[in-house]
Amino acid sequence: MKITVIGTGYVGLVSGTCLAEVGNDVLCLDLDVNKIKILEEGGIPIHEPGLQEMVRRNVAAGRLHFTTDQERAVKHGTIQFIAVGTPPDEDGSADLKYVLAAARNIGRLMTDYKVVVDKSTVPVGTADKVRAAIAEELAARGVQTPYAVVSNPEFLKEGAAVEDFMRPDRIVVGADDEQAVHLMRALYSPFQRNHERLIVTDVRSAELTKYAANAMLATRISFMNELANLAEKLGADIEMVRQGIGSDPRIGYHFLYPGCGYGGSCFPKDVKALIKTAADEAGIELQVLTAVESANNRQKHVLANKVKARLGDRLDGKHFALWGLAFKPNTDDMRDAPSRELVADLLQAGATITAYDPVAMQEAQRVFGPLPGLTYASGPNQALVGADALIIVTEWKEFRSPDFDLLKTSLKNALIFDGRNLYDPKLVRSQGFEYQPVGR
Ligand SMILES: NC(=O)c1ccc[n+]([C@@H]2O[C@H](COP(=O)([O-])OP(=O)(O)OC[C@H]3O[C@@H](n4cnc5c(N)ncnc54)[C@H](O)[C@@H]3O)[C@@H](O)[C@H]2O)c1
Repeated sequence: MKITVIGTGYVGLVSGTCLAEVGNDVLCLDLDVNKIKILEEGGIPIHEPGLQEMVRRNVAAGRLHFTTDQERAVKHGTIQFIAVGTPPDEDGSADLKYVLAAARNIGRLMTDYKVVVDKSTVPVGTADKVRAAIAEELAARGVQTPYAVVSNPEFLKEGAAVEDFMRPDRIVVGADDEQAVHLMRALYSPFQRNHERLIVTDVRSAELTKYAANAMLATRISFMNELANLAEKLGADIEMVRQGIGSDPRIGYHFLYPGCGYGGSCFPKDVKALIKTAADEAGIELQVLTAVESANNRQKHVLANKVKARLGDRLDGKHFALWGLAFKPNTDDMRDAPSRELVADLLQAGATITAYDPVAMQEAQRVFGPLPGLTYASGPNQALVGADALIIVTEWKEFRSPDFDLLKTSLKNALIFDGRNLYDPKLVRSQGFEYQPVGR
């Protein structure tokens, strides 16, 4: 099939490449000239395991192309995926300006039947707005070209995005047009050879499903974070509690890890947007999610608060080694990363920091800009030298089994604040460290 993907970010690039991998003819459009240049030169603008090789393979096979030319992009695909960003507006609602601009563009330039697929995470009712934007453009041209609008939210996880797209748990397609459903079924059939994973719903249910999934996962995290803070005060170990409840099949082990808050490009903005949609469109206050959000905002300060409780509210003259910057391992994404609050808190209190992250340092430099007091190290051990303590904020694999002897000789104090509970407290403490995890 001929497919156009509009927006070549984490979702668009992964979707486009995976769709090319199974034999489709895919054209990826982005307005960011720089991104397209990197892709045309054989690189990729993001860090995502396995993606680079797959992009190369499909470009070489002539199935994957990149462009900034909107007319070419609209002309190319019968299926037009919209995978542009939906960042939070000032009031917390999802900003639809990129989605609607992409839709208008399709309406302005299309000359034959198109299936326009919302892959971006968008509030309930957006498909109607996309349909109306295209209709307006067609009317302005005085033409009646047929089209369908479909909601097909994306559930991939950064860091495992290629695997998630190639082997999805489920594919949700919200549509009320039979021809479009037929095309979507055909498009996704290579991804569900072993059993049917396509769930066809009405458009609004598909839109809400994506928010419901992220809101549920965020709720589990905030719930565990609150219990971790409680466990700490009560002298319990949240890790044992986690295993105790995770073994119940009604609860399960996923997303029960306490830490220093959730971040990333999805949970914070999607929780906010769902609260806002409920309030504005339905007059309903989502009390659970409001609490989930405020608990998370508080949790992002948990590490800095531990540092201050131990070393004093003012941290002038104190220097910290920071392991991790990305919001989670295997990505360079810094959007809403807990490290951002932590760095701000520590610098504000007068401390200095040397940070290391295996892949997110360039992105961190872009996000933070030049910040007096924040420097970057070439490796995890280099970051330790002369620091008053080590603080861990991202659970990269390479931090899981460090050389504790080296840690002790490099750090000024054998002191570790661990926002991701990477180590066995007994073991680390037996090696002479003061160890401050979360909830243990
Ligand atoms: N990142 C994730 O893990 C993830 C997972 C599931 C769903 N989502 C959702 O998918 C959407 C995209 O997320 P992302 O992380 O890929 O965003 P991103 O910011 O990485 O990429 C969006 C891209 O769209 C481009 N763009 C904007 N307007 C355009 C236009 N009119 N024409 C062409 N290109 C345009 C931007 O230049 C950018 O490169 C969001 O709604 C997000 O919530 C993201």
